[in-house]
Amino acid sequence: MTDVTGAPADVLHTLFHGDQGGHEQVVLCQDRASGLKAVIAIHSTALGPALGGTRFYPYATEAEAVADALNLARGMSYKNAMAGLAHGGGKAVIIGDPERDKTEELLLAYGRMVASLGGRYVTACDVGTYVADMDVVARECRWTTGRSPENGGAGDSSVLTAFGVYQGMRASAQHLWGDPSLRGRTVGIAGVGKVGHHLVEHLLEEGARVVITDVRREAVGRISDRHPAVQVVADTDALIRVEGLDIYAPCALGGALNDDSVPVLTATVVCGAANNQLAHPGVEKDLADRGILYAPDYVVNAGGVIQVADELHGFDFDRCKAKAAKIFDTTLAIFARAKEDGIPPAAAADRIAEQRMHEAAAARGR
Ligand SMILES: NC(=O)c1ccc[n+]([C@@H]2O[C@H](COP(=O)([O-])OP(=O)(O)OC[C@H]3O[C@@H](n4cnc5c(N)ncnc54)[C@H](O)[C@@H]3O)[C@@H](O)[C@H]2O)c1
Repeated sequence: MTDVTGAPADVLHTLFHGDQGGHEQVVLCQDRASGLKAVIAIHSTALGPALGGTRFYPYATEAEAVADALNLARGMSYKNAMAGLAHGGGKAVIIGDPERDKTEELLLAYGRMVASLGGRYVTACDVGTYVADMDVVARECRWTTGRSPENGGAGDSSVLTAFGVYQGMRASAQHLWGDPSLRGRTVGIAGVGKVGHHLVEHLLEEGARVVITDVRREAVGRISDRHPAVQVVADTDALIRVEGLDIYAPCALGGALNDDSVPVLTATVVCGAANNQLAHPGVEKDLADRGILYAPDYVVNAGGVIQVADELHGFDFDRCKAKAAKIFDTTLAIFARAKEDGIPPAAAADRIAEQRMHEAAAARGR
């Protein structure tokens, strides 16, 4: 999956003619009364209605917003396909500063735009939007998920996201060391926010040694107070160099795996929750060349989307947890395919996802 960038004409050319385009539908939305400006991108509905969150972000240009919506929507097609969901991929972006521009009127207007698509796109939270916002959007649009429990939703998705990442780690251990147990392994977590702190609990419960870092002192304090045995290091740069690190879990921002970090990584496995960990195409090969096993981010962090998809049918935690547990088998299948095809796991995951989408489209006569 490579990036769509550039001016509107370039974006349109890529969309209609380039290998990275092929989106089914892109909708530009405007509501002058509330100031809403949004882009809804539907990449694929081959597996079912497109599902993906709404990003609220102060894009520098409208072209940047369109390009981001296109990239994120494509990413959701792959993520949903690999999670075994009956959903295609879509994503929306609202142009603006969420702190300043987010109002009830704007979210309601956005809900009407999503509703106008008649269920081809189902929306949820992403960067800059929260369960309380989805509660508002849902007043105008039944194709909204990621709502609060008080409003019939499943609430915070980080519990199952962390559980899925933990399953990805166990699968990595199985593949590499012939045993899924993480007992006695050293795991470094960069970012102990909503997902990262749940991950710490899973790892400690299994007897792993945990090293953490976070830019927020209170996030580190919350863990240290409860678990004094957890080692804290100053920053991510120190974490990735920790002697004897077995697994590195990026759980903060994207781009953690790049030309600076990969050469100095001491871990033999990378498996974390952050989206878009590979800073640019080719990094997956650099990891493989160093003998580092990379569990693809969008596969292991799918617990959240599994939860929001489940909410559409009346949320059931145990059913969802059982689905998220399958991330173990999916991750193992990706490693096996990578070995078979002689390609890095990230490329193998893309291949399997594409195959699922093509087969579903063919079955529907498309
Ligand atoms: N929450 C979910 O269900 C979910 C689902 C899929 C993917 N993700 C991805 O997982 C990642 C974590 O999500 P979250 O919900 O826990 O977010 P969060 O904001 O609660 O946690 C992120 C943590 O990373 C820390 N951080 C930021 N920059 C850092 C840096 N340079 N070094 C160290 N720590 C840093 C923050 O202080 C924060 O504590 C994000 O990339 C998110 O997109 C989350």
